[in-house]
Amino acid sequence: MILVTGGAGFIGSNFILDWLSHNDEPVLNLDALTYAGNLHNLASLKGDPRYTFVHGNIADASLVAGLLSRHAPTAIINFAAESHVDRSIHGPEDFIQTNILGTFRLLEAARAYWSSLPKGNAFRFLHISTDEVFGTLSPADPAFDEQTPYQPNSPYSASKAASDHLVRAYHHTYGMPVLTTNCSNNYGPYHFPEKLIPLVIHNALQGRPLPIYGDGQQIRDWLYVRDHCNAVRRVLEAGEPGQTYNIGGLNERTNLEVVTLLCDILDERRPKADGTSYSHQITYVTDRPGHDRRYAIDARKIQEQLGWRPAETFDSGIRKTVEWYLENQAWVKDVTSGNYRHWIEKQYA
Ligand code: NAD
Ligand code: TYD
Repeated sequence: MILVTGGAGFIGSNFILDWLSHNDEPVLNLDALTYAGNLHNLASLKGDPRYTFVHGNIADASLVAGLLSRHAPTAIINFAAESHVDRSIHGPEDFIQTNILGTFRLLEAARAYWSSLPKGNAFRFLHISTDEVFGTLSPADPAFDEQTPYQPNSPYSASKAASDHLVRAYHHTYGMPVLTTNCSNNYGPYHFPEKLIPLVIHNALQGRPLPIYGDGQQIRDWLYVRDHCNAVRRVLEAGEPGQTYNIGGLNERTNLEVVTLLCDILDERRPKADGTSYSHQITYVTDRPGHDRRYAIDARKIQEQLGWRPAETFDSGIRKTVEWYLENQAWVKDVTSGNYRHWIEKQYA
């Protein structure tokens, strides 16, 4: 059994689906079901004896201790987090609570559990982090590698950086078998429509403005979410405890390029009745405060040491993603209309 935290979110749910399609080791999913957690992402696992869901918070020390002693997982994979930069600018508190305090409590519970295991028992704590901890790059700077100093610029990235430091310290001080991955921007199915790619697809189809922050020349290194899941499985299987691994898409694009490409694909796949292009909906809006200009990952370590490479190109991944959103408009409607929140409130009243 592995314990996945935050498994009802975007990457966590893709990871659980990917994991169970590759092997039969059961998954225990611990998720607090914040606005970003969606159990419908895992509806296909209904009745699957390999999957168990627990509604709860990673900061709940006694709940986590009980789960660890009852289920004796071989690994903890910590996806649980507050993940949206804009939300962290408007209200950083939840980011501090979950990303820092939550990770700390989870580490403490994991340490007690790991210390109680008989010598030789396999156990790993894999912490999922972001490239945003490294700060921002100028156009000519080399991409972030594992030695790049941390220079987080937003409350989100600062809270993730703090959690990464705690994870590192648990290896250095206690010898805990921890691993950390720092990944670039993901995209793909089940992405909550507050982030750039799903927001643009959703707004385009709704006839709403497609907001571009500032000049739209900020660069992100986009990775298809299933490629990230693959990398996480590989690190869990063959990564060296105490090490960190950068994961990236080898795919730097400006935001304007991404939005224009989405409009082109939608023009082809779902042409507008009036014959105009979705790109006419592009609207320049005030820039995000402290907006990082460029992220890029040097993924040579994971490529050379663990043999991982992304399988999707941006063109193939983005087309799959657009198809998924076109085919799953009910999912989008559910999360954007509040229906899903109502269901959760009733279910867990
Ligand atoms: P998400 O916001 O979609 O999902 C987060 C999940 O964590 C949700 O299901 C939420 O309910 C759950 N959660 C939040 N607080 C919790 C708590 N206190 N206890 C238990 N569960 C809690 O996020 P995501 O995009 O899937 O990101 C997952 C992880 O990957 C995060 O740690 C994020 O920092 C990291 N990451 C994300 C990206 C990206 O592009 N989305 C890139 C690199 C790294
Ligand atoms: P986002 O998906 O929020 O991811 P992150 O901030 O973690 O990189 O944003 C990706 C990029 O797109 C980022 O440079 C901000 C920009 N952006 C817009 O221009 N408009 C939008 O409406 C959003 C949500 C993001």
